[in-house]
Formats: sequence, C-alpha cells, structure tokens
Amino acid sequence: MQAPETITDAAERALWAQLDGARLPCHVAIIMDGNGRWAQQRGLPRLAGHQQGVKTVRRIVELCGDLQGIRALTLYAFSTENWSRPAAEIGGLMQLLKTYLRIELAEMLKNDIRLTTIGHGEELPAEAREELERTKMRTADNKKFILNLALNYGARRSLTDMARTLARQAQAGQLDPAAITPELVNDTLETSFLPPLEMVLRTSGEMRLSNFLLWEMSYAELVVTPVLWPDFSRCDFLRTLLEFQQRERRFGATTPRQ
Ligand code: FPP
Repeated sequence: MQAPETITDAAERALWAQLDGARLPCHVAIIMDGNGRWAQQRGLPRLAGHQQGVKTVRRIVELCGDLQGIRALTLYAFSTENWSRPAAEIGGLMQLLKTYLRIELAEMLKNDIRLTTIGHGEELPAEAREELERTKMRTADNKKFILNLALNYGARRSLTDMARTLARQAQAGQLDPAAITPELVNDTLETSFLPPLEMVLRTSGEMRLSNFLLWEMSYAELVVTPVLWPDFSRCDFLRTLLEFQQRERRFGATTPRQ
C-alpha cells in the first residue's frame, strides 16, 4: 500500500509499503491493556496511564482513517468487571471518556466517522451517557468508518441478553426453537450492525480474552503484543496488521494444496 503523502516518517512508510491494502481486516477489536503498568513504571497514579491511553486511542483512530479499509474498530474501554476498581479510577475514566468525546466530535464529523457503542450504556453516569448520546446522534449518518466503544460491556452479559430475547420470542409463540441458527444468534446479538470481526489485538502481553466479544471472535485472528497501550504507536499497529496478513486463515478447513 502507498502511505499518504502526509506521512514523512521513513519507518512508517516502509511498513505501509509492505501492507496489502486488499487484505486489511474489515473489523478490528482491541483490548487496550497496560495503562496501569505504564503509570506504575513511572511512579504516577493509574489515571495518568489512562490519560496517556486516550492519546493512543486518538493515534490509532486516526491511522484507521488513513488506512481506508478497516471498516470498524471496537475498543474495550470499560468492562462489566471494571466497576470493581476504586471509585476514583472509575470516575476518572468516565471523565476522560466525556472529554474525549467533546474534543473528538469535530474530528469525527470531518473524517466521516460514526460513533457507536455496545454494552449497557444506560448504567453509566448521566454526564458520560449524555455525551455519548449526543456524539452518536451527531455522527449517525457518517459512513467511512465505525468507531465502536465497548462500555460497561461483557460478552457473557451480551450473550445472556441475546438468549433472553430469543426465549421471549419463543415464549410468545413467535419463534420455533428449531429455527434458532448461528445466523439468528448473530443477528440477535447487539453487535449485529458491525462487520465480521477479523482481528483481536491485546496489548501488554497478557494471554487472556477477558470476557470480550466471545461469540464474535470465533474466527478472528488473535494478535498479542508486549507493548503497553500508552506506548502503542502507529508503527506498532501497522506491524500487527502485517502479522494478520501473514496468517493463513483456514476457517476450520484444510490448507489448499499448491
Ligand atoms: C486497561 O488497563 C484499560 C482500561 C480498563 C481502560 C481503557 C481506557 C482508556 C484507554 C481510556 C478511555 C477510553 C476512551 C475511548 C476515551 P489497566 O488499567 O487494566 O492496566 P494494567 O493491567 O497495567 O493495570
């Protein structure tokens, strides 16, 4: 792929040159891990790591816009389990989210980015909820790229919601249980509006799925990088895309013989 002219960094241009623009994953999801460790290594409060993490969010969203091939990016910004963190950290994260949305709205409008969310957003503090609703509404008609934030999200809860929806339809006599297929499950999940998930990236080296998109990642390629999220650069992201392109995606079938 050819790097846009605005990119002058030689190392980044070399990575662009190796990428196949026709084989970018259409939907990438990221477990943005390592903010706490980044802060700890510098003797800073954990929130400083999250603040730095927001800068990485900006960097990677901008790069996805430049790439023009990734159609959706899902970021695990707050999990159903994150409520067990200290109240000050939760409050700080909500504040960061609100500020991020306020500052980035203009960029989203300029770059044709649509903001969406998954998870139980209705349980978030009112200020964050209102900012989210406003941003979602203002960007609803944008077409180039979906920035999807997983907020108060957990895959088990999401799958439970899906099961309840189908069970209610069956109970009301509107659905024959025999008609429940993997496709119907897909279409009933809250993620049904997103393109198929093709790559899941986790930063900071942990080999865990952390209750993230468990159904959706069935055939996604997993890429784990040791880099902590606040340090994760544009070049790091391009390298993970190159790793994705080197994988042989067989979807359970055998390797085609040459
Ligand atoms: C995990 O690092 C990170 C989170 C739980 C929150 C991620 C949030 C952000 C990057 C900022 C807000 C996001 C947006 C979209 C504005 P950790 O704290 O678990 O790190 P550790 O494992 O090193 O402790």
